[in-house]
Amino acid sequence: MYGLLALLTLPAALAQTIPNVSLLIDNPAVYNGKATIRSILPWVSVRKGSLFHFGSTHDIFAPAAEADWTSDKFWNVWNHIVAENGCKWYDTEPQPFVHNLTDCKGVQQYATDHGATFRGHNTFWHSQTPSWLPGNVSASELVNKVIPNHVQTEISGLGWDVTSWDVTNELIGDSTTMGMDAWECVQSADRWPTVTVDGGSTPLVTDLSFAYAAWSTALKYDPGKLVYNDYSTGATNNSKTECVFKLIASLNEQAGVPYSRMGVGFQSHVGASPGQFVPKDQLETTFKRLADLGVDALITEMDMWIPTNTTAALRYQAAIWGDYIDACLYSSNCHEFINWDNRDDTSWITPGPGHGVAMPTLFDANGNPKPVYYEVLARFERYAAWKPEMCATAMGVAHCTVPRD
Ligand SMILES: *[C@@H]1O[C@H](CO)[C@@H](O)[C@H](O)[C@H]1NC(C)=O
Ligand SMILES: *[C@@H]1O[C@H](CO)[C@@H](O)[C@H](O)[C@H]1NC(C)=O
Ligand SMILES: *[C@@H]1O[C@H](CO)[C@@H](O)[C@H](O)[C@H]1NC(C)=O
Ligand SMILES: *[C@@H]1O[C@H](CO)[C@@H](O)[C@H](O)[C@H]1NC(C)=O
Ligand SMILES: *[C@@H]1O[C@H](CO)[C@@H](O)[C@H](O)[C@H]1NC(C)=O
Repeated sequence: MYGLLALLTLPAALAQTIPNVSLLIDNPAVYNGKATIRSILPWVSVRKGSLFHFGSTHDIFAPAAEADWTSDKFWNVWNHIVAENGCKWYDTEPQPFVHNLTDCKGVQQYATDHGATFRGHNTFWHSQTPSWLPGNVSASELVNKVIPNHVQTEISGLGWDVTSWDVTNELIGDSTTMGMDAWECVQSADRWPTVTVDGGSTPLVTDLSFAYAAWSTALKYDPGKLVYNDYSTGATNNSKTECVFKLIASLNEQAGVPYSRMGVGFQSHVGASPGQFVPKDQLETTFKRLADLGVDALITEMDMWIPTNTTAALRYQAAIWGDYIDACLYSSNCHEFINWDNRDDTSWITPGPGHGVAMPTLFDANGNPKPVYYEVLARFERYAAWKPEMCATAMGVAHCTVPRD
């Protein structure tokens, strides 16, 4: 995802208060530190009762210098791959109705070559569209021809070996309010295709027919999970989260998409500062609400900037990431967890106002594992050992000291 820089502006005062947290990696008895994450995943899957997918991003046009390192990590850390850019609309349909799935299929092949699974991201988004679109098609062409053709070609082109597809990405706006209906939630985004970007201010599409077109097409051609993916969602008592529920209800009722075929992707581009991430209990409440409908929950784009390059901040990052892992592991409907970008120096999140010193991934700029990597490994080991769920460590030692068992 791009374009959320403005959302993550951090009040200066908050940056100073990093809670003192308790971590599993402090306890040598729980943490063996030697295993690689991927070697634990089969045992995670045993407890889950189904294959657990823990992944990261790749593109076949990524810099060659990084290739060996990345390849090593897809053997030892991740068992799941998503294309960061190679499956987006600008790359897969460079000319109207002229498709090119080379970069997208290349990532799927890379997954196969590493014994990993592949997920699709994405068939419809307002950003990274081909230059011939938008502003160059009528509403009826868009809904009846352009979207169905694109979604069908991409999904059927990649075939059945895809765990889940982000059918629509970031439809909902950032200025939602409680009580909005699904269309109002999407309209509040105030961006294509709700408004034209060819200079006109007339809305291009005045209802959710474009979303129904994408989903009903995906339903026909994809046997896997169909996902609605967005950022700044997951908190309880939150209007954007409510909008997600309104939207999936609308897709269910109006586009005939069964809940059992749906997933909701929580991008989880967050910050290691209080108020800049979703606490574990709220994530789990939201995931449970989806489970009750029969809908999957996925963490799709996890990364986490830190305010300062200090031990306390790196520990806090480890605690929050670990809690997101636990929220997914201990929720019955969460089977996929994707980390966005492989290491700090290749992340799309860079240091600057609103993102502190960034450092937002599991591996530092030299490719070495950070405390967050070891804590994530320890959370997987603990789950694989059939241990009960822990308290939310990101809340700090006043709320949670991890068991020394
Ligand atoms: C962090 O919490 C632990 C356990 O309560 C305590 O021993 C330690 O002094 C605390 N550290 C700081 C920097 O507050
Ligand atoms: C398809 O995309 C690939 C990768 O970007 C490129 O090398 C190739 O030339 C494209 N094919 C066509 C027919 O444009
Ligand atoms: C608009 O689409 C038509 C085909 O539908 C194409 O020939 C034309 O080049 C496009 N215009 C732009 C500005 O891309
Ligand atoms: C929900 O949020 C609103 C406004 O943010 C607040 O006034 C209200 O007390 C909250 N309700 C609950 C149950 O937390
Ligand atoms: C963070 O601090 C450590 C220890 O001082 C240093 O080695 C490292 O280069 C710093 N990383 C960044 C990205 O500033």
